[in-house]
Amino acid sequence: MKITFSDNVKHDDATAEVIVVTGKALPDGLEAPLREVASAAKFEPKAGKVFDAFVPRDGRMVRRILVGAGGTNGEGADPFETAGAALAARHLTGGTKVLAVDAGASGLSAVNVARLLTGLVLRSWRYDRYRTRLKDEQKVSLKEIVVLSAPEGAEAAWREAEALVEGVVFTRELVAEPPNIVYPESFVERCRERFEGTGAEIQVLDEAQMAELGMGALLGVSQGSEREARLLVIRWSGGASGDKPTVFVGKGVTFDSGGISIKPGPGMEDMKWDMGGAGAVAGALLALAKRKAKANIVGVCGLVENMPDGKAQRPGDVVTTMSGQTVEILNTDAEGRLVLCDAIHWAQKELQPARIVDLATLTGAMIIALGHEHGGVFSNNDQLAEALLAAGRASGDKLWRQPLGPAYDKLIDSPIADMKNVGPRQAGSITAAQFIQRFVEKDMPWAHCDIAGMVWADKPGTTWDKGATGYGVRLIDRFVRDTCEG
Ligand code: BES
Ligand code: MN
Ligand code: ZN
Repeated sequence: MKITFSDNVKHDDATAEVIVVTGKALPDGLEAPLREVASAAKFEPKAGKVFDAFVPRDGRMVRRILVGAGGTNGEGADPFETAGAALAARHLTGGTKVLAVDAGASGLSAVNVARLLTGLVLRSWRYDRYRTRLKDEQKVSLKEIVVLSAPEGAEAAWREAEALVEGVVFTRELVAEPPNIVYPESFVERCRERFEGTGAEIQVLDEAQMAELGMGALLGVSQGSEREARLLVIRWSGGASGDKPTVFVGKGVTFDSGGISIKPGPGMEDMKWDMGGAGAVAGALLALAKRKAKANIVGVCGLVENMPDGKAQRPGDVVTTMSGQTVEILNTDAEGRLVLCDAIHWAQKELQPARIVDLATLTGAMIIALGHEHGGVFSNNDQLAEALLAAGRASGDKLWRQPLGPAYDKLIDSPIADMKNVGPRQAGSITAAQFIQRFVEKDMPWAHCDIAGMVWADKPGTTWDKGATGYGVRLIDRFVRDTCEG
């Protein structure tokens, strides 16, 4: 989507002029015919309500749109973002090429221009790369948003917001790509391309280097796959030198077949998005680098493919993790924690973090508990948990706190090794978190976000269509702003 700031726009059949309505009444200066049809149609300026009309001007008919930005849509989303998203949902296809938003006549402030554009661009994201036979009416027609008579500071506000939007879009792209296209090495390549020139540094460990370090748990997951595993490290050093970094660790299982404990066929294709945690970490780092966040942040992505073959790990195997602790593998489908434990241990040894937050599509049980409304957050530190919950509320990437405790921890003791990789059926998300906690050093503030229900949507939301949501990027960006910067 092209975004331009201008004082005029050429009117043709494919251009629609937009007025954003915030108050109860329509803004002064609106031409009489538009006023009349809007009131005849009982247009109410609630956030996300769109009214379309053709009205006469200089002897021809021009397309006018009124969009409401009053109140909220009931889901706590920003009303201007909701308005922008509603415009995109309505006008992405169908012939409109240019939306000319009259910021002056709408009385929009600079931040609200940025919010409107954020909603517009996020909601118009689609991934049509593999759709070669789209009919014209299915194709995206909307190409450009022109902001007319923008208030001072609107362009700067948008540039800052745009960095975040680019991060969300990058995450969605990684998540939406099929697993024959995005696998550990190609995930790394996409990041190399995308981070070019941003000032972020990329480091990659290959299998030989991970073997040398003793990452037996992560490599055990990967050993049934033809694809090589990678540990991807993205460093953004925008803070004071010497400030300990905040580290975000992402589960990046580019396809989770379950391994020898193979998953049932129906729905298995969903497991292409089992890299949604790593995708969120990569997208968030991109946003932080693009907006030049004043903080030291490191993203660590554990990238593997979980497949069954003659070399695959078996239920019953015992593996030794980088920490030295041993794990009895009871179910090869509980692979995410095996990837995270080595990635987190490496991060603590290598990066001296101030705090660690991991994000992972870790358990189906998390979806049973929270559905698609909240991710679950587990933490050994109340302050960190509160900061993440607050960032979730403010960003719309919502979280809900979940418990940890010694009684749950006991459930993963093993008779043959230090622990087993699954507990009983009950409290499956909690025992998964307890497993990870066994690799977190004493006194290290740590939080684990189980985002299994959040990275993919079967129906459209306010700022996304069906498919990849980009969940986690705005959460991390908000958290960094409030906790790590300034
Ligand atoms: N990636 C899955 C969790 C998942 C399932 C995410 C469905 C999103 C949708 C994870 O690796 C997994 O398979 N977990 C198992 C754990 C079990 C074997 C203890 C699960 O949730 O069934
Ligand atoms: Mn699994
Ligand atoms: Zn998985």
